[in-house]
Amino acid sequence: MDSIRNKIKQSKSLVGPFPAFDLDVVPEYPHDLFLEWFDVALHHDVHEPHAMTLSTIDYSGSPDARILILKDVDEDGWYFASSCESKKGKQLEANNHVALTFYWSLIGRQVRIRGKVEKMDIETNKKDFLHRGVVARAVSFIGKQSSVLHEQNDFNHALAKQLHYVQENSTSVYPAWTVYRVVAGEVEFWQADEERKHRRLLYRLVEGQWHREKLWP
Ligand SMILES: Cc1cc2nc3c(=O)[nH]c(=O)nc-3n(C[C@H](O)[C@H](O)[C@H](O)COP(=O)(O)O)c2cc1C
Repeated sequence: MDSIRNKIKQSKSLVGPFPAFDLDVVPEYPHDLFLEWFDVALHHDVHEPHAMTLSTIDYSGSPDARILILKDVDEDGWYFASSCESKKGKQLEANNHVALTFYWSLIGRQVRIRGKVEKMDIETNKKDFLHRGVVARAVSFIGKQSSVLHEQNDFNHALAKQLHYVQENSTSVYPAWTVYRVVAGEVEFWQADEERKHRRLLYRLVEGQWHREKLWP
């Protein structure tokens, strides 16, 4: 029987062809290049291109990470939403330094963003929350995200109760729902090459100005 080691070894990675990336012809600002790359990902039908890893630091200084959905991008930053009472919400309250990582395997592209989060205002949170589906809103109203679930039935009962509440109160907003903006200090664009001659471009914010540097692969 094939060992797991062999199965892993036989798994292919970075199989092209990949789109071109000319490091000398790029926009001045990283969010503009991100939007260009996002369009390329959409064009190639990359699965869930808006799924990203959010890395945080816990109270003891240890890293933590999970996948979240990107909600928006503009010249001010990258946006996501969650409960500020979740594990990540508490970590962000204590330490607002984060990293976001995107990987679009079909086009061999990785984007790494390092920065700090800011909480958005109540109106933004409300608008985002009310755009979510009924079940997603009901799950939020249960609260308790990341705390221990002893019995599956506890969740089923809580969900039934909150579904009823959401249906009766369609404009009600879960108060802990929070939209966060990641204000970037560094954004790196990584383009895979089938022959492993990968190309990397780092944008760094220095005294309010974005600087670009090519990196060794
Ligand atoms: C594809 C995908 C998208 C997700 N999107 C979100 C999201 O937008 N917001 C969220 O709070 N959790 C989202 N989750 C769940 C998180 O990964 C995580 O399990 C949850 O937020 C609890 O994280 P925490 O314990 O670090 O607070 C998503 C998970 C996956 C796999």
